[in-house]
Amino acid sequence: MDTYIENLEWRYATKKFDQTRKIEAKDLEKLLKSIQLSASSYGMQPYEVLVVKDPEMRQKLQPVAFNQSQITEASHLIVFASLTSISEEHVDAYLDNISKIRDIQVEKLNGFKDMLANTVLKQSASDQKAWAEKQAYIALGNLLSAAANYKIDACPMEGFDAVKFNEILGLKEKGLSATVIATIGYRSEKDVAQHAKKVRKNEKQLFHHI
Ligand SMILES: Cc1cc2nc3c(=O)[nH]c(=O)nc-3n(C[C@H](O)[C@H](O)[C@H](O)COP(=O)(O)O)c2cc1C
Repeated sequence: MDTYIENLEWRYATKKFDQTRKIEAKDLEKLLKSIQLSASSYGMQPYEVLVVKDPEMRQKLQPVAFNQSQITEASHLIVFASLTSISEEHVDAYLDNISKIRDIQVEKLNGFKDMLANTVLKQSASDQKAWAEKQAYIALGNLLSAAANYKIDACPMEGFDAVKFNEILGLKEKGLSATVIATIGYRSEKDVAQHAKKVRKNEKQLFHHI
């Protein structure tokens, strides 16, 4: 088996983190890079990512995440917060960024702007929110794979009250909503979950070669 697959076998949704081990800055940087480099529809990255290290903040968040121990025991908590609606300003900011980075006049992007206006901006606010959330999950997936690659443990989590998270983290006023979270760090030797066999659909159930 190659190392990539071995590392995916090694990873599991960590239930108990070793509280004494923290992710070093250079490793955290790589994990965040994996989020930053994630693909997204039209490249819009309709989300922002909070990297929560502060123990007091995590103490506040834990009760509204079913008291899951990972929230406070992991090295860091990552919150993927997606846009609750997409405005023309978001589109313009994105086009400005392309224009700057690729050194092209923003007017040259008018065709792309029309495409975004006729697709993303035409959607209802609730469809835009759902679309933005899907993009955030792609970034979560990248983070999980990258963490496994560097032998850093992670737990993806939906078990939290998004409304309460938004209140505590001040996300609503920024037009954002907590979509999914991940705790990252190093597994505790005592975490029995690491020994459980992986349960997955077999190839026949999962794949259909056509
Ligand atoms: C989007 C998402 C949400 C999840 N939410 C939680 C959670 O709130 N708490 C938890 O302990 N595990 C959570 N999990 C972990 C899953 O239960 C776990 O990934 C699944 O059982 C497969 O096991 P494995 O990841 O250990 O291979 C979540 C996983 C995903 C992908």
